[in-house]
Amino acid sequence: MKKHNFCAGPSILPKEVIIQAAESVLDINESGLSLLEISHRSKTFIDIMEEARSLVLDLTKLNGEDYSVLFLQGGASSQFSMVPYNILSTKAAYLDTGAWSNKAIKEAKLFGDVNVIASSKDSNYNYIPDYKIPDDYDYFHCTSNNTIYGTQIHKFKASKTPVICDMSSDIFSRELEFSKFDLIYAGAQKNLGPAGATLVIVKNNILGKVSREIPSMMDYNVHINKCSIYNTPPVFPVYVSLLNMKWLKNNGGIKTIEEINTKKANLLYSEIDINPLFKGHAKEVDRSIMNVTFNLVNDDFKETFNSMISNAGIIGINGHRSIGGYRASMYNALPIESVKVLVEVMSELENKI
Ligand SMILES: Cc1ncc(COP(=O)(O)O)c(C=O)c1O
Repeated sequence: MKKHNFCAGPSILPKEVIIQAAESVLDINESGLSLLEISHRSKTFIDIMEEARSLVLDLTKLNGEDYSVLFLQGGASSQFSMVPYNILSTKAAYLDTGAWSNKAIKEAKLFGDVNVIASSKDSNYNYIPDYKIPDDYDYFHCTSNNTIYGTQIHKFKASKTPVICDMSSDIFSRELEFSKFDLIYAGAQKNLGPAGATLVIVKNNILGKVSREIPSMMDYNVHINKCSIYNTPPVFPVYVSLLNMKWLKNNGGIKTIEEINTKKANLLYSEIDINPLFKGHAKEVDRSIMNVTFNLVNDDFKETFNSMISNAGIIGINGHRSIGGYRASMYNALPIESVKVLVEVMSELENKI
């Protein structure tokens, strides 16, 4: 039976990307060798890394003179400390929009003063709080899309203070003026590729200002100077991320995928809004187009709904353990047909009851 993969991450990738990735494990570029057994310093891999880095600039329309692109390891979680290690001299401003922002805040406190300028904790993070970016801070940090709660920042404010953004769960899902950001990071395993690579896009002029010593592996400049091959990079995740970015570009790029993602989100949110059995978690204005969170109004229907979901081949829509309910993650590779199947099951439940 066809599976409809709504997993939050690691998550769905385009079928053709998975096929090409599988082929590369058997034989990369008809070289007679597997991608997994060639040197990361071979021309084959250096070309892969260079193409991946330049495709990131191409998709974001950023200029390679001002910005550097890195594929690191350690997940987005390692960026929670790498950012302040490299950029926090005295004080940083953070927006608290949920569990991931909290983890970033906790790490930053090890390096300097942290001012949480706004939070939506009072309401179980179901909205994006209003905020004003202060001027005299080393940087401002925010999370563009809150994977667990299904909220998303729809408009980013311009600022004199450098803006750092965790885009782990919505990178390349919508058009943004990427030049508004001074540093963007994302764990690959949602919208970019498989788990194991971490994308960092950094504006060169924000680096080199802290006076502390930085261990080499934590130092952005060390990785930049070695073109993201300071040590052995995550070879396979970088290659699959490259294939996925090529897929995105060949299918119309970010503009086209944003239109499709918006259609998918509208379809599901409309059902949540008209079906009396369901209630959305996130406030309407701050709803995410990537992760849609919702609950059954009456938990008595849970067993029936769960079995209907599983009979329809839908997987991965359990809510995060911290908030319960349901969460449909609809990353770039998820076809609209899968969303239609979910919506049909929701409306069938209404007819049944
Ligand atoms: C917004 C956000 N930030 C950070 C993380 C942590 O990423 P990683 O597991 O790559 O450290 C996640 C993981 O789901 C996330 O959704």
